[in-house]
Amino acid sequence: MTVAGPTFALVVAANRLPVKRVVDADGTTTWQRSPGGLVSALESVMRGRDAAWVGWAGEPGPAPEPFVEDGVHLHPVGLSPSEVQEYYEGFSNQTLWPIYHDVTVLASFHRNWWNTYRAVNHRFAQAIAEVAAPGATVWVHDYQLQLVPSMVRTIRPDVRIGWFDHIPFPPVELFGQLPWRRALVEGLLGADFLGFQRAGDAENFLRACRRLLGMATKADTVTFTPPGGNASLRRTVRVGAIPISVDFRGLEALSRTPEVLARAAEIRASLGDPKVLMLGVDRLDYTKGIRHRLKAYEELLQDKVIAPPEVTLMQVATPSRERVDAYRQLREEIEGTVGRINGEYSAIGSPAVYYLYHSYPRNEMAAMFLAADVMLVTPLRDGMNLVAKEYVTCRHDLGGALVLSEFAGAWHELHQAFICNPHDIEGVKQTILRAINTPVDERQRRMKALRKRVATHDVQRWASRYLEALASAPFRPHRPTRASDMERRGAERANRANQRRSDNASEEVGD
Ligand code: F6P
Repeated sequence: MTVAGPTFALVVAANRLPVKRVVDADGTTTWQRSPGGLVSALESVMRGRDAAWVGWAGEPGPAPEPFVEDGVHLHPVGLSPSEVQEYYEGFSNQTLWPIYHDVTVLASFHRNWWNTYRAVNHRFAQAIAEVAAPGATVWVHDYQLQLVPSMVRTIRPDVRIGWFDHIPFPPVELFGQLPWRRALVEGLLGADFLGFQRAGDAENFLRACRRLLGMATKADTVTFTPPGGNASLRRTVRVGAIPISVDFRGLEALSRTPEVLARAAEIRASLGDPKVLMLGVDRLDYTKGIRHRLKAYEELLQDKVIAPPEVTLMQVATPSRERVDAYRQLREEIEGTVGRINGEYSAIGSPAVYYLYHSYPRNEMAAMFLAADVMLVTPLRDGMNLVAKEYVTCRHDLGGALVLSEFAGAWHELHQAFICNPHDIEGVKQTILRAINTPVDERQRRMKALRKRVATHDVQRWASRYLEALASAPFRPHRPTRASDMERRGAERANRANQRRSDNASEEVGD
């Protein structure tokens, strides 16, 4: 391999770069912040480090030239229109995403999507290999890149490899439905350390290794012989739960600025200074429980226990995966429901729901969080949900109340929130009323405890805990010796075998 450009001691790879390229109608290119919690979390970890970020620039087409943003070297990976369709919208978001989120909608299985997923993962692995310095640390992120760890190991046996799962890892009964389950597990086991949001996710992964693939697991490790390799190439991979968090200090400081405080007051005033402003902020995704939340709100209006203008709801829905059918249908459904609620319960000048189909910059989000009396975070399934942590971070005034689903990863840390089961509409209604009616001193006590947790477990701590776990995981660095050559050849054989096996498996399932 020829190393042409600069190389880095730390290489992060995620499906998206922190910024996405937007090409306007007149052909001019601008760069906008990418959506999602992964980017907000990693951005602050990467800032100021001598590191590279490998990822897609968010638009189909050839990869733009590498560039530097905020001191981070960004190394774009190009995706053709059909790769966007099959790797990103298809396999990542219509096969893996539903399975990993408890099949909230049905998953689709297609062999061509899988083949493209594998090809794109290979392109990411090659890009990583190009920018990783000898002996570098490579940190791969999320479900879109599960084959990358073993592919990088094959090309660059000298680097340490970690992977972090931002979303839930499914129970074996669901994961086992994937015709490509073996290849996915073996892909991940190319890493030295695999990080998950919750202990339950790590356990699900270990169970998949044991039950589906007959591998030996002991405590938090899996012992694994790469396919096609002999016993001397046996490796031990460590697995652990390290929940992600937010940049508490940075976001808190932003929320204390006079501009943000003034904007929060302005938002409330422009809504007619309601007694209770409720807020929902989500990517428009069926896992977020927006429909359930609107149903509970509509019933509360119907029951006449709340009414605008005293109580009102602002729902921010960030556009997401707009070309995928399930997301289009969800948007139609939600916008229909919002229209119905407003038609029925709004008065002139006082809508029941303020619906905003937009993404907003961080300072505007901080102002919204400060303006909201009750924050509704009610996903049906969520790896973490950083909005919950962002909300409490911004509430330095100890105001506000957090209503939180027990199916968000954040629930495992934020017990002092007002907890609900989003499927239980009556329960959600009662929890909302409790959040509204709890005396101020009790609400402040809860907020203080929530803030303490996030302040002491912020994203910087998450990153250092992760990197320490990776640094202390069992690792046998390989120079290009005969043994590593054998491993590489073994892995290449295995990749070919995987391909044959998964092609055969998919003869039986899907098209
Ligand atoms: O963690 C979930 C995740 O898919 C991230 O990988 C991603 O950054 C975010 O949600 C937003 O999704 P998308 O990149 O598909 O817009």
